Amino acid sequence: MTGHSRHDLLRQGTEYFTREFGVEPDGLWSAPGRVNVIGEHTDYNDGFAFPIAIDKRTVVAARARGDRILRVVSNGFPGVVETSLDDLNPDSLAGWSAYPLGVAWAMAQAAPAGDPTGVDLALSSDVPPGAGLSSSAAVECAVAMALNDLWKLGLGRQTLARIGQLAENRVVGAPTGIMDQSASLLGEPDHGILLDCQSLHTESVPLGFAAADMGLLVIDTRTSHSHADGGYASRRRSCEDGAQAMGVGSLRALGPGDLPRAADVLDGQTFRRVRHIITENSRVLDTVAALRTAGPAAIGAFLNESHMSMRDDFEISTPELDLAVSAAQALGALGARMTGGGFGGAAIALVRSSDADRVADGIAREFARAGFSVPHIFPVSASAGARREL
Ligand code: GLA
Repeated sequence: MTGHSRHDLLRQGTEYFTREFGVEPDGLWSAPGRVNVIGEHTDYNDGFAFPIAIDKRTVVAARARGDRILRVVSNGFPGVVETSLDDLNPDSLAGWSAYPLGVAWAMAQAAPAGDPTGVDLALSSDVPPGAGLSSSAAVECAVAMALNDLWKLGLGRQTLARIGQLAENRVVGAPTGIMDQSASLLGEPDHGILLDCQSLHTESVPLGFAAADMGLLVIDTRTSHSHADGGYASRRRSCEDGAQAMGVGSLRALGPGDLPRAADVLDGQTFRRVRHIITENSRVLDTVAALRTAGPAAIGAFLNESHMSMRDDFEISTPELDLAVSAAQALGALGARMTGGGFGGAAIALVRSSDADRVADGIAREFARAGFSVPHIFPVSASAGARREL
């Protein structure tokens, strides 16, 4: 986000709160969306992932109340949703407010009994929803940061990530892993975050994109994805079945040397799901090693291989995502892959900065030729994680 648009988002956030609730907020907090550079569906398999926080954020303006009422408004949706902390039931939350209220429910579990006060919350966001850029994690993490401060809970960022994940799993009903919230909370400008989802050890790794005159383009196919639907959960189940049949607690315990035995033990489809996870974990580590030793030009091949693995082995790509990737590659991108949970959403392409416009135009032309809807293509840069703004 440029300084200017960040300033605008903060100003609008404050004005929005004041207009809706008639008083000034106590403070403003923000959290970014994320793009996963590599390491897909590995998080819930205790594996490795390498996301960045992006320069698109959700801002939450918030004010503590004297009672137990929660009120929330969002610039993307009409109306005020109002409830009481005493009535928060994870099973009865629905719609857009399930994200912020789900976090309030999960945070209230972590708060001393009876202590938390009600809060008014006003959400504004420039993270495009439904694009696979974790607009939901941005909301969860911004609200978690705000409540952590307003309720003086002093929880660390890894705990806040777990709380966001719990809200998503329990309240929204999407059986997702820890990657999105970790990226949103732990991101740093110009760095990727290497997540070890088993030990929960994290490490910031310099990307070196600017020095190499390169950047990431997001190609949002504008085809929808929802992880509360069947595809994501069924992939997760296949991974669990595969781990069980191989006699391990999670697929993280397996490496490339286990593939021949996996081919013997597993049915063809489960084997391909397992092969994706095993090879994807290796590709994450190879990508980070290549960044450290050779710089970003050396990671393109891993991105391309990751896409093939998701297309052929994990089978979570779509014709639109495949076209975005193949067109980017043909137009000279150094590497490209679909990003996020799949079944729609966005792809990323690593491009030389001087090529970005040409590649973007070319992809849009290929989409038109194929009769697909117009994609939304824009550059993203690695940005700071969640923070208090004011
Ligand atoms: C979604 C989930 C994440 C992760 C990715 C796939 O974004 O929220 O936890 O599983 O899909 O890598």
